[in-house]
Amino acid sequence: MHFLARITALFVLISTAWALLSSLPETQVLVMYDATLSLPEEANLDHLLEVNDKYKVSYVDYADDAAQLFLGEDSIYSHVVFLPSLKRSAAATGIVDKFKLLEFFNKGGNVLAVLGAESALPEHVRLFLNEAGIYPAPKGFVVEDHFEKVSVGASNVVEPRIIGAAEVPEYKGTAALVSNNAFALPLVKGAKTSFTASPKDSALIAEKTWTLGEQCFLAAAFQGLNSARIAWVGSEQLLNEDLVRWVFQEKGVLKLQFVEHYKADEPGLSDRTQYRIKNDVVYTAGVSEWKDGQWVPYVPATEDDVLQLSFKMLDPYQRLNLTALGPGASTENGPDDLTIFYVNFTTPDHHGMFTFELDYKRPGLTFIEDRRVVTVRHLANDEYKRSWDIPNSWLYLATFGTVIAAWFLFVMNFLYIGEKKPNGASAAKEAAEKKAEKK
Ligand SMILES: *[C@@H]1O[C@H](CO)[C@@H](O)[C@H](O)[C@H]1NC(C)=O
Ligand SMILES: *[C@@H]1O[C@H](CO)[C@@H](O)[C@H](O)[C@H]1NC(C)=O
Repeated sequence: MHFLARITALFVLISTAWALLSSLPETQVLVMYDATLSLPEEANLDHLLEVNDKYKVSYVDYADDAAQLFLGEDSIYSHVVFLPSLKRSAAATGIVDKFKLLEFFNKGGNVLAVLGAESALPEHVRLFLNEAGIYPAPKGFVVEDHFEKVSVGASNVVEPRIIGAAEVPEYKGTAALVSNNAFALPLVKGAKTSFTASPKDSALIAEKTWTLGEQCFLAAAFQGLNSARIAWVGSEQLLNEDLVRWVFQEKGVLKLQFVEHYKADEPGLSDRTQYRIKNDVVYTAGVSEWKDGQWVPYVPATEDDVLQLSFKMLDPYQRLNLTALGPGASTENGPDDLTIFYVNFTTPDHHGMFTFELDYKRPGLTFIEDRRVVTVRHLANDEYKRSWDIPNSWLYLATFGTVIAAWFLFVMNFLYIGEKKPNGASAAKEAAEKKAEKK
């Protein structure tokens, strides 16, 4: 009876948990827009994402002062999109606030900001972008060119991995300056002859131009150390599916599935904490990429995307490229969902605390960092080579042998070889014989 009650309780618990889990909301997307501006067609995210049951998109007006980004400590949304607005300040201070946005980003939230030729972004969104090293032009500034039509083609795309093939025959929008922060990624650059200024200013002077020539960027992105993403585009025309997927972490997402290191002659003993100097070591790592809703083996796109291992103590003693061994599975009998990379090397002739460091940061891909600290010890007393294994010692060993042999020969010679020494009885006899001969 008792047992039965327990089983029933357990069953109820499991089914409640299951119901709770399956009723968890889909990924929440927040879209901020200005109701006084009609939503541009390109900004229709339903169309861009072919929204199925995966995303729950909430549209909030910039004028909605009750809207919030956080519920207690947690952010309600995974991704936030800022569409152009006419006003520089927004009433929705629960969302449009530099500090709230930074906190949202630090917690892993992704932000997409869209600007237009005639519109502005709320000041706090702009300040937030400035923190990431993206400086959009002020309201009313547009990209112009006196030599040719302002357009976007393959030659303008700096980072095709993020924005794909952007094609805009006639670009109407604004531009931004991008700082040389290593985490800020220019996506689309302007033509050499382009500049950004307000069409109202008749004279083009340095103080009234925001960008000149190739310092002008029409789209830029930023990925933080926590792999959260920010993207900014100067016009809805540049908003494409590739970019939205990238910001929403559907593209360019990597996962380190495992890391292993072992001595080449003891493959069974992995992840040991101690090695000896001059050991042959094998290091392997498995990396997956998120593609179309599942993990697949990651294949570096170019030669420069090779994974590298550093074996370092303050300085890297070894920095080696990893070689792809082939696809593998992260679960037993599961599908092949990762690529196994490996490298083997000899530990340096230096003892101390070393780190196997895998630090993979490539533009457009989430960052992979892994550090394993191991001890490298010197040879134990009984691990040194015996003297006769060292060719240099052969001369000394030979001298040693020669001395023994020479000494032995000398003694033998001294004792038994050469002129016989006269001894008592025979000497007397010989003397007698000689006497007899003389007679
Ligand atoms: C690693 O790969 C890069 C890029 O292909 C190459 O430049 C570098 O020389 C390689 N390093 C080693 C140690 O082979
Ligand atoms: C790596 O291993 C292969 C075969 O297992 C061997 O031929 C090669 O010399 C090793 N390389 C190093 C640097 O130890």
